[in-house]
Amino acid sequence: MANDQIEIVPTGAALGAEIRGIDLSKPISDNTFDAIEQAFDTHSVTYFRGQQLDEGQFQDFVCRFGEMQVNFLKRYTIKDRPLILQVSNIKENGEDIGHADAGRVWHSDMSYEWNPPRMSVLYAREVPVSEDGEIKGDTLFASAVQAYDSLSGEMKERCKGLKVVHDVAGRRRNTGTGTQDNAQREAMEKVVHPVIRSHPYTGKKAIYVNMGECVSIPGMKDEEALDLINELAATVIRPEFQYRHKWQVDDVLIWDNCALQHLAAHDFELPLRRMMWRISGCPTKVYE
Ligand code: SIN
Repeated sequence: MANDQIEIVPTGAALGAEIRGIDLSKPISDNTFDAIEQAFDTHSVTYFRGQQLDEGQFQDFVCRFGEMQVNFLKRYTIKDRPLILQVSNIKENGEDIGHADAGRVWHSDMSYEWNPPRMSVLYAREVPVSEDGEIKGDTLFASAVQAYDSLSGEMKERCKGLKVVHDVAGRRRNTGTGTQDNAQREAMEKVVHPVIRSHPYTGKKAIYVNMGECVSIPGMKDEEALDLINELAATVIRPEFQYRHKWQVDDVLIWDNCALQHLAAHDFELPLRRMMWRISGCPTKVYE
């Protein structure tokens, strides 16, 4: 594959495009890389099928976008590859070898940090398939930009200038999901971000609020704040703003945390196995 003739094929859903005609293990020119990045900003989810990469090749491709971040769940990273987090339900000797709870509720990655990652990337190593041949373990994405655009003028005005407190442990506490590493989450600092953020590259506005993790709005009574948070969060995940990705082994998929929220379907269990390698990064200030 010459890697100089890529084809961008939109999914036809609210967001997402497949990029064809590229082998990520081979050199990629600056022009082609720019086209990939442009497609990413346009479609918010971009994916490449059939990629044969080792750990180093996967990391090298992703690091071309910028500085990648080490996740606080260090014990699930690949040995000597602290940037690659294993997202998996697989156990060895009774112990989880990866982050088994990832994505159980709709969220934007690491929104509990002051400078959350612009992007996250999953590389599918094992995909669960049921006995009757159905692919399980999909990931769903929802456009927070289209959700913002759908708000009434009055609601946009109401949200202007508001900030919201993000509490990573609240995701668990308030939604009853997940069991791993709760003590570590409870110990983490709460951060404050704008309710509506402007995309650092496209300038488009997006709702930046998710259920469970967003616990209060400074200056607003709790009941009123939670009603507003729930209303905005429910708007983001309306079916018409979604794309559902059916994984194939060797997919590499990149999503834009500044423009969307995502959810892992978690609709299977062992002995069906799922193994994803994940890298997140390009820390980005959350602009109003
Ligand atoms: C995540 O939320 O980062 C994981 C999504 C997935 O495993 O599908």
